[in-house]
Amino acid sequence: LEIYLNGLTGVLPDHPMTFTDLAERARHALPPSLWSYVAGGAGDEHTQDANTRAFNDWGLYPRMLVGAAQRDLSVDLCGITLPSPLLMAPVGVIGLCSQDHHGDIATAQAAATTGVPMIASTLTQDPMEQVTPHLGDTPGLFQLYTPTDRDLAASLVHRAQQAGFKAIVVTLDTWITGWRPRDLATANFPQLRGHCLANYTSDPVFQKIVGPDPTPDQVVATWAGLFGNPLTWDDLPWLRSLTDLPLIVKGICHPDDARRAADAGIDAIYCSNHGGRQANGGIPALRCLPAVAAATDLPVIFDSGIRSGTDIVKALALGATAVAVGRPYAYALAAGGVPGLVHTLRALLAEADLLMAVNGYPTPADLTPQALEHLR
Ligand code: FNR
Repeated sequence: LEIYLNGLTGVLPDHPMTFTDLAERARHALPPSLWSYVAGGAGDEHTQDANTRAFNDWGLYPRMLVGAAQRDLSVDLCGITLPSPLLMAPVGVIGLCSQDHHGDIATAQAAATTGVPMIASTLTQDPMEQVTPHLGDTPGLFQLYTPTDRDLAASLVHRAQQAGFKAIVVTLDTWITGWRPRDLATANFPQLRGHCLANYTSDPVFQKIVGPDPTPDQVVATWAGLFGNPLTWDDLPWLRSLTDLPLIVKGICHPDDARRAADAGIDAIYCSNHGGRQANGGIPALRCLPAVAAATDLPVIFDSGIRSGTDIVKALALGATAVAVGRPYAYALAAGGVPGLVHTLRALLAEADLLMAVNGYPTPADLTPQALEHLR
């Protein structure tokens, strides 16, 4: 309505209304190698493409006369009340996606404005303690790439808790980087160029490991040497012991893994294939969601392929408690700064809300698999 009313006075929206336009603007706004890094995926990007196409396999039944004039999109995630079932996924180079390279802080500001929580990556341009003060009343979550040094892992989690993050998301699918032809072609891996290592350089344990007055090359080499910990199920009790905050595991695509995580005392499952950036030749993440959601009673965050409010609604109906977006918000920040990101988040939510109104599903709880028809 706001947009239509502005149109009466000749004012058109400053920011794109479709994902295609948004991607095009971001491509122009970002340096080519950064665009490749953000937009690209693993292998021939079959899985990445399949992630988005999978939503077309499902159709939503319109239901009438249910009184959907009042909607309530709020959800509970591990005792944290979210005003809507949307989060911003951890994106390691979000810090570079804004003009001033403080995209982590910009994202926190957009979170504060919209109520859409930010999941801050381990890999940030700004140390985590400088990010949380910008979150306002919106909860923030911290994503951990677990380093091989256990003291450093413990320190990162402890700092996240001290900084005010409300949950820890441990990413399991990226202890090693996948085969990414676009990045290989540009020979560009941002962290190896010293970007987004602020959470490490500001960490007392990392500082002890790297030694006094390190050169930039020493910082990068030390980081690279301890970045990826190929965790096993045996490590989960240790991870669990690091914090009493809700602990969420990201990268779960199989129901057996969801069950094992639940048995290990994990608080929520994050069903994701990393937006197709890690394993090519996988199945679209959306196809994994129903079985993962049915495997346990735990709440489920879903990402990988969400591009619209319609996609949000379908993922909720397939069992997600809440969903997250990666590239859509990175593109929005790159293309339009904080106002552009706020616009995109509000547009995603407005589309979802309007679809729930028109189709007669007033709350996320009304969205069940029965709301959907499998089309292929
Ligand atoms: C990511 N993702 C990611 N995940 C994570 O746990 N930690 C991280 O630091 C990053 N970094 C990152 C950088 C970039 C440029 C992208 C695009 C993605 C994965 C991210 O959290 C999420 O799983 C996917 O982006 C979701 O898929 P869509 O929404 O991009 O299709």
